[in-house]
Amino acid sequence: MDSIIVRGNGPLKGQIPIAGAKNACLALMPATLLSEEPLTLTNAPRLSDIRTMTQLLASLGAEVTALQDGKVLATSCHGEIKPVADYDIVRKMRASNLVLGPLLARLGHAVVSLPGGCAIGARPMDIHIDALAALGAEIELKDGYLHANARGGLKGAVHEMRFASVGATENFLMAAVLAKGTSVLKNAAREPEIVDLAKCLRAMGAQIEGEGTSDITIQGVDRLHGATHPVVTDRIELGTYMLAPAICGGEVECLGGRIDLIESFCEKLDAAGISVEQTHTGIKVSRKNGRVRAVDVVTEPFPGFPTDLQAQMMALLCTAEGTSVLEEKIFENRFMHAPELVRMGAKIEVHGGHATVHGVDKLKGARVMATDLRASVSLILAALAAEGETMVSRVYHLDRGYERVEEKLSAVGAKIERVKGD
Ligand code: UD1
Repeated sequence: MDSIIVRGNGPLKGQIPIAGAKNACLALMPATLLSEEPLTLTNAPRLSDIRTMTQLLASLGAEVTALQDGKVLATSCHGEIKPVADYDIVRKMRASNLVLGPLLARLGHAVVSLPGGCAIGARPMDIHIDALAALGAEIELKDGYLHANARGGLKGAVHEMRFASVGATENFLMAAVLAKGTSVLKNAAREPEIVDLAKCLRAMGAQIEGEGTSDITIQGVDRLHGATHPVVTDRIELGTYMLAPAICGGEVECLGGRIDLIESFCEKLDAAGISVEQTHTGIKVSRKNGRVRAVDVVTEPFPGFPTDLQAQMMALLCTAEGTSVLEEKIFENRFMHAPELVRMGAKIEVHGGHATVHGVDKLKGARVMATDLRASVSLILAALAAEGETMVSRVYHLDRGYERVEEKLSAVGAKIERVKGD
């Protein structure tokens, strides 16, 4: 298994290009199941999760071809479709459950294994099941698989979700676009990745209004056609790299960054004393001399502070002046990075969904272990300004969500390298 070695050093300077959003792309790719015509996605990120989705779609009978070094995904699904998403692929990644809605819409039935993914809590499927059941699907759990049937076709309906689940909103959207009649999803998730999916579906001929708000209205159509769609910028990769100069000083411009994708996060950086500026080409972040100020953070659905940036924000707050409290409201068990940061000299106490971080002057390099995708990158961020050398092992988690992390950070002056393992 590969490891990443980081030697703490001084200010960073330069530009980091931000890729297309992993989480948007993972929802856009299954949309190919909705049409016989090709769907082309540009600005795709080059990540192992995208390769897993490619494998899953291929196992269902779709074709996904990576062009231009993986930045363009040419997809199509004109032949016979197999309705079964196997455990062997689904267990690698929870987002595999995003084939459920499109398979139901196109075939009237689907058999999808219960998902795996990051070990950050129970992550059940009840909200997805209720949402699809509202459209007329009958769903039962047998031998670890969800068996969904809507033999007479899906029918438009008004449904309110008990929680604004991102994945369930995406499954509902992809099912409702081909349902008979009008559907309204209330308490829908408002994340930019939902807006991106709605844009793409509209380019394919779907009739959708209200994405980005809590009420989305979908008028079902008989068929969708092909389209070409650029994947929205990855706001989580963006926030992660914005934290690099915030942690070790200097000035870095994140190319393609937009403040509107990540406003609540930018407000916290501002409160911590970091300068954030929208330029014509991206977001410029700089930290002058002196320590960062402590800030409290609560993770919430969009437009609140993203849970996927909580671990990285904690890395910044480890060396802030004062005490910060981070409250995790989306996932249980999402502080697994805290004990690893403590190995580097951080002072953190975790009680249930709260972590209290007492800022220290400096962290020290140590051997640490990545436990999930966002936790891995938080350890790398912390190591950038720590004294001495840090070795982060088990970085396969990192490769699920960050393309060429060592190249992007070295380009702005960080001392970071990958050591190949067995
Ligand atoms: C997506 C993102 C993930 C991000 C999360 C929250 C993708 C591929 N992944 O995950 O990176 O951290 O949004 O912003 O887009 N829940 C239920 N029942 C359900 C569904 C969800 O209880 O049927 C719970 C989950 O356990 C979790 C919370 O709701 O505690 C949020 O989940 P959800 O918004 O569905 O996240 P994902 O779509 O899985």
